[in-house]
Amino acid sequence: MRILLTGGSGLLGTELQRLSSGMLAPGSREFDIRDAAGVESFVADSAPDLILHAAAVTNNRDIEADPAAALDVNIKGTVNIAKACLGTSIRLVYVSTDYVYKGDRGNYSETDEILPSNLYAWTKLAGEAAVRAVSDHLIIRTSFGATRFDYPGAFSDKWSSKDYVDRIAPKILKAATAPVNGVLNIGGPRRTIYDYAAERNPDVKSIALGGSSPDSPADTSLNLDRWESLDD
Ligand SMILES: NC(=O)c1ccc[n+]([C@@H]2O[C@H](COP(=O)([O-])OP(=O)(O)OC[C@H]3O[C@@H](n4cnc5c(N)ncnc54)[C@H](OP(=O)(O)O)[C@@H]3O)[C@@H](O)[C@H]2O)c1
Repeated sequence: MRILLTGGSGLLGTELQRLSSGMLAPGSREFDIRDAAGVESFVADSAPDLILHAAAVTNNRDIEADPAAALDVNIKGTVNIAKACLGTSIRLVYVSTDYVYKGDRGNYSETDEILPSNLYAWTKLAGEAAVRAVSDHLIIRTSFGATRFDYPGAFSDKWSSKDYVDRIAPKILKAATAPVNGVLNIGGPRRTIYDYAAERNPDVKSIALGGSSPDSPADTSLNLDRWESLDD
């Protein structure tokens, strides 16, 4: 299967390429997803069976400082990718975020209400809307971090299904190539960010979030039943 990966130089993309060396993974200079004509011709020339779309502006501070750049990459860029798939048999797999859920109660299923809490998540949700136009599509809602937690403190009152990228990437790859469509949650067990961090960094200190905030909703944990039925 010929896979075209966007965002190949990123945290997830690097891990995905470690797992599957045959992917076509052009850098953002060669394949800038903001360039509609460039995207269309690159996709037509490379004729992938599957596009694994992981390119995005992901840093909240960058997004707040320059919202236009996030709109261009996360929304228009994803529209460009989706349009390049229309009228073809290309499968489009999009990496979205657990932050599209409201984040106040956790255990979110794929069909639960969505209410993004910050601009990053809104741009990812807009990308989801574009991806839905492609008949063979998969939207993966997930959360992951680098292989080690390198911050001094981690919240002990914030829950999620966040897991390390080396655990999430194989699941994403498996789902991408499985006969599954629509929306799919992927994550690890529900736990606090402190418990997540302490697993690989025993020196991390427990700190308190003290309530939900737009950039840090209190509980975005995921119901993983659909993933688990697929993984059997
Ligand atoms: N990290 C998380 O916790 C998390 C959670 C849920 C979902 N996600 C989603 O998972 C995906 C991967 O996240 P990540 O953390 O691996 O991201 P990342 O490390 O921030 O990497 C972002 C990637 O996007 C590329 N990119 C940015 N602008 C581009 C453009 N105009 N054209 C083409 N490529 C462009 C970057 O390429 P350059 O290096 O060349 O700029 C880089 O390869 C994203 O879609 C993100 O929204 C992430």
